[in-house]
Amino acid sequence: MSAPVTLFGKEYPADGNTNTPPSIQAKVGRNLHLQKDHPLATLREIIETHFKGFTRIQPESPVVTVFQNFDELGFAPDHPGRSLTDSYYLNKEHMLRTHTSAHEVEAYKTGADAFLIAADVYRRDEIDSSHYPVFHQMEGMRHWDVTDVKQLTEQLRAENAKLAEELAACPIEITDISNVGPENPLQECHDPELATEMAQNLKHSLNGMIFKLFGHITADGQPLKVRWIDAFFPWTSPSFEVEVWYNDEWLEILGCGVVVQKTLERGGVGHKSGWAFGLGLERIAMVLFDIPDIRLFWSQDPRFLSQFKQGEITAFKPYSKYPPCYKDMSFWLPEETQEGIKPWHENDYCEVVRDVAGDLVENVTLIDDFTHPKTGKRSLCYRLNYRSMDRSLNNEEVNALQDKVVGRVVKEMGIEMR
Ligand code: DAH
Repeated sequence: MSAPVTLFGKEYPADGNTNTPPSIQAKVGRNLHLQKDHPLATLREIIETHFKGFTRIQPESPVVTVFQNFDELGFAPDHPGRSLTDSYYLNKEHMLRTHTSAHEVEAYKTGADAFLIAADVYRRDEIDSSHYPVFHQMEGMRHWDVTDVKQLTEQLRAENAKLAEELAACPIEITDISNVGPENPLQECHDPELATEMAQNLKHSLNGMIFKLFGHITADGQPLKVRWIDAFFPWTSPSFEVEVWYNDEWLEILGCGVVVQKTLERGGVGHKSGWAFGLGLERIAMVLFDIPDIRLFWSQDPRFLSQFKQGEITAFKPYSKYPPCYKDMSFWLPEETQEGIKPWHENDYCEVVRDVAGDLVENVTLIDDFTHPKTGKRSLCYRLNYRSMDRSLNNEEVNALQDKVVGRVVKEMGIEMR
């Protein structure tokens, strides 16, 4: 892939890192989270309504520098998210953001004290009903001038007491098994009492939001169960993850924490401290709107879109599913490194499948992984499940797609069909 990529009128010269195929470029600018009546737009709006008074930021282009996406936030140089198999690069310097956190520092620079960022984000991944290379996230941040520590601590204590009282009146059961301590510390540069109130403010604010979103799904008289656990993010400390009890398991909803002071300094607001969180909209919307397949969000079929109305959470009524068509593909992996061929990675394989067949592939599953005892050669077999959400596929059409996939993976990945 050596053609330069042009996005939002800007050309990014290609180099050895360029790995963003046209099928992904074509998704840029769709902005499902801004499309009236779309479930993602309703979810965004509910969250925005909860965080009243927060300044909204909607960065138009998903292109950020690698520095913004990773380094500025303190990601280690060898963090796996940086690899070409996991992220979409335009070139060595520019990439498609993998999370809305990539805009935190520039948001701090605007001088406001509370923000919400909603945007599309991009990650290379497997193909199944809950993974799609483009999805949407929201980031929230709030911070305060910490010049007068005592006064601010009192102010936050009072606000937190009020929030706690409001929550106490809601049927929500919050279990906090996070453990602020040596493994998940307060920052040394922070006054411990103040940092504790900030973390508390973060927790109350998010518990309130979660209750607004999920409160109604527990109509059977059970309180909504929410759990706080420890986490690690390079730009927050302490850091937490929040989970909601749904369908008999804990569903991870978001990551958050007290922002590392250095990150605020980078944004020119070293005299302020506060919290940040980030969440994925699709995962939550799939639960709230009962949407079984992440591809449906991208459907232009009126049978999907006409079911939803801005501001209303309603369960998706599935229309008839078209029959699936399975095609297996068995091949040997290259035995030794070949010039111009990268080491095998499933995400690269899925990228080709997506580039050829787009949303006509429902999932790609590894069904056999065999290493020949004598030769040591490794063979894989993948089952590709073709199914359109909007129409019936015929066998010739699917065979043509499958042939195209085979042709490309043989050429680009150095594999040998069995
Ligand atoms: N960006 C993180 C992700 O994509 C989510 C996140 C975690 C955002 C912690 C934050 C935060 O702002 O403080 O997984």
